[in-house]
Amino acid sequence: MNAVWMKVPVFDHLQYVRASDLIASERSALSNGWTPRSWRDKPGRQMPQYADLGKLAAVEQILSQYPPLVFASEARSLKAELGRVAEGEAFLLQGGDCAESFAEFHPDKIRDTLRVLLQMAVILTFGSGLPVVKVGRVAGQFAKPRSAEMESIGGVSLPSYRGDIINGSDFDEASRTPDPTRMIQAYNQSTATLNLLRAFAQGSYASLHNLRQWNFGFVDQSPLAERYETLAGRLDEALEFMGACGAAGQTGSVLRETEIFTSHEALLLPYEQAMTRIDGDTGDWYDVSGHLLWIGDRTREIDGAHVEFLRGVKNPLGLKCGPSLEPDDLIRLIDVLDPHGEPGRLTLIVRMGADNVRRKLPPLLRRVREAGRVVVWVCDPMHGNTVTSRSGYKTRSFDRILSEVSDFFDVHRAEGTHPGGVHFEMTGEDVTECMGGAQSITDEALSLRYQTAVDPRLNASQALELAFLIAETSRSQRMAGKQFSTNRRPFRTNRVSHQ
Ligand code: TRP
Ligand code: MN
Repeated sequence: MNAVWMKVPVFDHLQYVRASDLIASERSALSNGWTPRSWRDKPGRQMPQYADLGKLAAVEQILSQYPPLVFASEARSLKAELGRVAEGEAFLLQGGDCAESFAEFHPDKIRDTLRVLLQMAVILTFGSGLPVVKVGRVAGQFAKPRSAEMESIGGVSLPSYRGDIINGSDFDEASRTPDPTRMIQAYNQSTATLNLLRAFAQGSYASLHNLRQWNFGFVDQSPLAERYETLAGRLDEALEFMGACGAAGQTGSVLRETEIFTSHEALLLPYEQAMTRIDGDTGDWYDVSGHLLWIGDRTREIDGAHVEFLRGVKNPLGLKCGPSLEPDDLIRLIDVLDPHGEPGRLTLIVRMGADNVRRKLPPLLRRVREAGRVVVWVCDPMHGNTVTSRSGYKTRSFDRILSEVSDFFDVHRAEGTHPGGVHFEMTGEDVTECMGGAQSITDEALSLRYQTAVDPRLNASQALELAFLIAETSRSQRMAGKQFSTNRRPFRTNRVSHQ
């Protein structure tokens, strides 16, 4: 019998394999031209020019041999949970630092970011009555798109800082030169971070019986402390009641453990390609550097490298949607990124800016609905609201952040669609980077503890305030929906079994 031989690019080497030996998914991926390296033939923005290509290739080779950070089965279970968000049965909480950093790598910092995420999650679960899918911008969130290639200070011009996985933030030539070996350090830091997160999520730290321990001393003085304490008291009563009813036995691990998924912007494609593997169980390609990968607003051209790369991996994907995104372009992107219409495959992260949501979001919602597409809609109220304060700090006003979130919810209510979640930048540290909030941080106060290397983040107190606002809005919308639910699909009442 004559075998059919095909020339197949596998991991950058041209190899000849028998077509019948290719697993089904490889054949179908190849049939529409996708391979882990097919992005290299497309224009790729926001990626560095490495001077030493030999060193780059060596790093890629090393990384491609390293163990996966996450498992394909975990990415599938996140996709399933996001599918429930798309249906209006759950809520997505996605947050973390703007960028992780090598210098600030410390277990306390990871724990503190997790604490804020857990506090927000508990406020949302309790307040909204919906299960909350928890996704960190963490364990891989290192690469940053920048508006300018170069930065000039005092007549000296150097490449912009693009995140620790690419170059250093110090303004000198050595540090600003892109260095591929930084990818290995980012990988190592991600593994250690993820290891700690897994331990916290599955050990007793994340137990609902411990929620007072997630509190921060510096939040004690703020009005948020009281609200959080009230919630903790009510939750204690509920847990006690369930225990008295004899429910504790069956719900033990559900109350004690949670699951934290990871996500980052898949910007630095040589790194992402090196972390892309075939899953032995399904024969599908997964990018095992994180559970969910997103495409930035600046790299979402339909025929660009980033869209090309991500269309071929089976992870759940995010797509940032800024004010310049036209409804027809969005549909084209959905067709490419989610060709099979899988619920949970695509999360649209809307970052319009407080002044634009009411105008820009409805046409997108309508167009997607008309096309019959099922996506998760998430509000990123951070990135469309970045300004320079009078004193010269890159900041965000907390009022505008809240206003974008509440407009996002209003627009969804008017359109009869589910506001699926929020995406935000925060830190567990007591920083003064965003103005306003219960502590009334003023322009003058920004200089007190302004620590971010990139974007201004919410501090713990502002993050809790945001969570309370969302929980209340979400609950009141669901209550209103129950009374006047003529034009929307009723929520199904059988809840997801959720750890
Ligand atoms: N397992 C449930 C969940 O993740 C309940 C839970 C346990 C929880 N620990 C938590 C919820 C911490 C929020 C925060 O939803
Ligand atoms: Mn940012």
